[in-house]
Amino acid sequence: MTMMPIEDVCRLAPVVPVLVIDDLDKAVPLAEALVAGGLRALEITMRTPVALKAIRAVADAVPDAVVGVGTLRTADDVKAAVDAGSRFGVSPGFSPVMMDAAHAAGLPMLPGVATPSEAMAASERGLKILKFFPAEANGGVPVLSAWSSPLAGISFCPTGGIGLKNAPDYLALSNVLCVGGSWVAPKKAIEQGDWAAITKLASEASGLST
Ligand code: 3PG
Repeated sequence: MTMMPIEDVCRLAPVVPVLVIDDLDKAVPLAEALVAGGLRALEITMRTPVALKAIRAVADAVPDAVVGVGTLRTADDVKAAVDAGSRFGVSPGFSPVMMDAAHAAGLPMLPGVATPSEAMAASERGLKILKFFPAEANGGVPVLSAWSSPLAGISFCPTGGIGLKNAPDYLALSNVLCVGGSWVAPKKAIEQGDWAAITKLASEASGLST
């Protein structure tokens, strides 16, 4: 499996879709719909029983997608996700045990932080790109803006509470590379197989300025 640096993953498009897949049969058409709309980096969360199979299916069937795993919390999750074909990993927080496992597995990581101390701990391990989570609940744009000077050199992918309306405010910040969000893949549209609607949401998202 070819890994790419997390910065390259974050620069593929302005938005990384956060996907919760309940029905394995929906994984490939969902990924195709998002890629058709210009979103190539896809985070499939480990929140459903079929998540690993969904990662494998997308990795095998959608060559233009760069499939990653989300909601990583344990070293065992890391190994399973890499075995399934994940090319990057996203986690809600910053766990040294999990980061060791990701490093050993060669999995580029986007770990979550919510404070300057966590960002500094991640930076000490050489990480320069972090997820700010949950972005809106933690103060959103004003907090990231306030971090830009004291935490110079660290960039963020804010995630949590972001949609088409507030994404531009985040993307305008100098320390934001991309944003994460589930709004481009609504649960109802996935259930109904409304892939045209998802491609439209993805197109709007991929057209955002960075
Ligand atoms: C999540 O917690 O599921 C992700 O951070 C996405 O959050 P969102 O649903 O608010 O986009």
